[in-house]
Amino acid sequence: MKAIGINGSPRKKWNTATLLEKALEGAASQGADTESFHLYDLAYKGCVSCFACKTKGGKNYGRCAARDDLTPILKKVEEVDVIILASPIYFGTVTGEMRSFMERLLFPYMTYTDPPGTLFSGKIRTGFLYALGAPEELARERGFDKHIAANEMLLKLIFGNSETLCSFDTYQFEDYSKYYAPRWDPEKKAKRRSEVFPDDCRHAFELGVRLARS
Ligand SMILES: Cc1cc2nc3c(=O)[nH]c(=O)nc-3n(C[C@H](O)[C@H](O)[C@H](O)COP(=O)(O)O)c2cc1C
Repeated sequence: MKAIGINGSPRKKWNTATLLEKALEGAASQGADTESFHLYDLAYKGCVSCFACKTKGGKNYGRCAARDDLTPILKKVEEVDVIILASPIYFGTVTGEMRSFMERLLFPYMTYTDPPGTLFSGKIRTGFLYALGAPEELARERGFDKHIAANEMLLKLIFGNSETLCSFDTYQFEDYSKYYAPRWDPEKKAKRRSEVFPDDCRHAFELGVRLARS
């Protein structure tokens, strides 16, 4: 069994990447071969609306015709059992790199039918992990949950299944005294980091276990 992780954070060791690592450890604990990709290491663009993936009888029907660093990853998706996406929330939604990745991953499979359907022939168990600086209530107040729910629906539509995990109120800086950020209380942030983030990591591990098992 094969599980891949996609890190949509520019930081390779912070909240998002740590959650993803834990989820992949969970999958590996069930015997999955795991591999992760850092989107910020890759050169690619989002969908360019060429519509080769929707061209009747076209050789790229149902596939992304663009060729760049995402091409081998999109090819790999056809062979995996589990995909775990992970992204920070930037301005209320996933990072630009994750958004571009999602366009390239999902749009070729999505049919322009009413209701939309999927051209993906198999089933992939998917998970989406999010790191948010905002506490949960604020995230909901701002409607971030709507974007997150929409992503879950989209993954379910294309691949047949999806689970979501959010880590709220994340610890953003190594040393809060170095940055102008009066909005956040460094002591509260540190407490959350030591008391709640380990639980978030445990939940990410368990998500990886569930996806690899089911
Ligand atoms: C450009 C930028 C925009 C952000 N926008 C939001 C936001 O809209 N909502 C939020 O909850 N956090 C926001 N954050 C905070 C990040 O989501 C949070 O720090 C997260 O933990 C970052 O992921 P990382 O720890 O993997 O780097 C933003 C951070 C940056 C750098």
